[in-house]
Amino acid sequence: MKNFSGKIAFITGAASGAGLGQAKVFSKAGMKVAIADVRQDALDKAVGEIIAYSGVPASDVLALKVDLTNRAEYTAAADKVEATFGGPPHLLIQTAGVNSFGPIEASTFEDFDWVMGVCLDHVVNGLLIFVPRMIKAYAHKTEFYVATTSSMGAFMSGSGCGPYSAAKAAVNNLMYSYAEALQPYGAGATVLCPGNINSNIGNAEKFRPEHLKNTGYHVSEGTMAHLRSVHATGIDPVELGEILKEAIESERVICLPDHNPENWANQLRGNNATIEDYTLPRAEREAKAAARMAEMMKNFAPPAGGDKDAPPVMGWAVPEGAEKFGQGRKDLDWLDPSRK
Ligand code: NAI
Repeated sequence: MKNFSGKIAFITGAASGAGLGQAKVFSKAGMKVAIADVRQDALDKAVGEIIAYSGVPASDVLALKVDLTNRAEYTAAADKVEATFGGPPHLLIQTAGVNSFGPIEASTFEDFDWVMGVCLDHVVNGLLIFVPRMIKAYAHKTEFYVATTSSMGAFMSGSGCGPYSAAKAAVNNLMYSYAEALQPYGAGATVLCPGNINSNIGNAEKFRPEHLKNTGYHVSEGTMAHLRSVHATGIDPVELGEILKEAIESERVICLPDHNPENWANQLRGNNATIEDYTLPRAEREAKAAARMAEMMKNFAPPAGGDKDAPPVMGWAVPEGAEKFGQGRKDLDWLDPSRK
């Protein structure tokens, strides 16, 4: 898809972070933008930000408060876009997501339902609601396209964020299928796989729905502060939106947002090697993993001003006053305390 001006975009999770960055970018590219999110206060703020950024009239931005895991609500939002902008979106970008970190063996049904509900089910909902409408309205007449924000986590297992990694891996697979399926209609699909975004996802637990609050993970103001400090080092959402726009224009199926593609290629090769090694007996697999880790560590710079022979520090420092995120709930006394 190369021409955006005058067309319609529907972007989920666009009241914040990556989705808001995408809304700014595609609004500036001349699109009418519908932004869907579950938080009304954040939507109200986002509308002002989008208009200030792109200079479009207020009538070109439609804010929709919707829980995208609810199919009836999502369908009503789709109807509202058609009624307001005169047709279904030419560009569907599904970016809403939440994250929660903790040992996979501590996870509750609610942890899975919340994370997979937003990260996977909402994507399925949007594809089933919108793609038939988009085909009927636009196939072979005008450009249309679907994109989803997944994660680098789609390519690796995550014993510390199992539901999230499983959801994102499924989203990627789904988007490969749609990329193939939409070709005959003259359309395409892209799945964006960022590593770290400077967004508000570190606060996601604050907005977890009441009926899904029962978690097996240790969550507190302190763990959220730690998570926020990690995401503060991530890519700027508008810059990420521009990278996605280029990927849509050039119809890349996977969009890996790095200025140095070799970085991602190396990471993917490492992840693929790990999966290949799952077929090996444990001793052999662990020896290969240790060798690969030693090789990888050669590329890490020693801490600034530190001893250059000292082992490099992995992971993120825990800011003062914060607690490390990713731990199990403290009353789950059967969890192995030696786990990372
Ligand atoms: P964010 O928290 O800033 O934005 C996500 C938005 O989704 C929020 O505004 C939230 O209200 C909305 N949302 C959550 N549940 C919803 C529901 N049921 N219905 C409607 N809206 C809902 O977070 P961020 O980081 O911008 O996340 C965007 C996407 O990027 C997510 O899919 C996330 O998994 C992905 N991602 C984020 C990374 C990061 O480092 N922040 C890294 C890789 C991927």
